[in-house]
Amino acid sequence: MYEDLKKILITKEEIDKRIKELAAELDRDYEGKRPLMVAILKGSVMFYADLLRAMTIPLELDFMAISSYGNKTKSSGEVKMIKDLDRSIEGRHLIIVEDIVDSGYTLSYLKRMLYSRHPESVKICTLLDKFECRETPLQPDYKGFDIGNEFVVGYGLDYAEKYRNLPEIGILKEEVYR
Ligand code: IMP
Ligand code: MG
Repeated sequence: MYEDLKKILITKEEIDKRIKELAAELDRDYEGKRPLMVAILKGSVMFYADLLRAMTIPLELDFMAISSYGNKTKSSGEVKMIKDLDRSIEGRHLIIVEDIVDSGYTLSYLKRMLYSRHPESVKICTLLDKFECRETPLQPDYKGFDIGNEFVVGYGLDYAEKYRNLPEIGILKEEVYR
């Protein structure tokens, strides 16, 4: 898989260190609130598992799967729900755990949809933020790293379902997806 990478952008050590800091921040902000940690499948699974294990407050898990890209590298703005949450979120504090925010369409749609179910709060925690690519006003509440306008894979992130099990985050060579 490494031969398809232009370079490693974020190492395992850098990811681990940043996750510990994010976990400490969430521990502080959500003390006594028993947040519902919502993983957006599949890209966030590595981040989710590491982040939740670094947190020390009581919390709950739930999972949601949506699709916006198919095998393309640009968002269409169309979002399809593939798996919904298992239980009611009324009155709960939700933290959406996402791999990357790009145009912001996916999370804008999701936030609107979740708020219609009357949770107490909905915040977004993303590992990566491609802030230059935003096409909506959406801002993450917690983020691991800002990155530029390049297509990245690894640590859960894929191109056509490949590279998710790379332990670090790398920039994909353009000839792989062009
Ligand atoms: P948005 O709706 O444009 O914000 O797209 C968010 C989704 O697009 C993420 O959850 C990812 O699945 C995917 N995505 C955006 N940029 C990348 C990337 O650089 N690598 C892999 N997936 C990406
Ligand atoms: Mg994806």
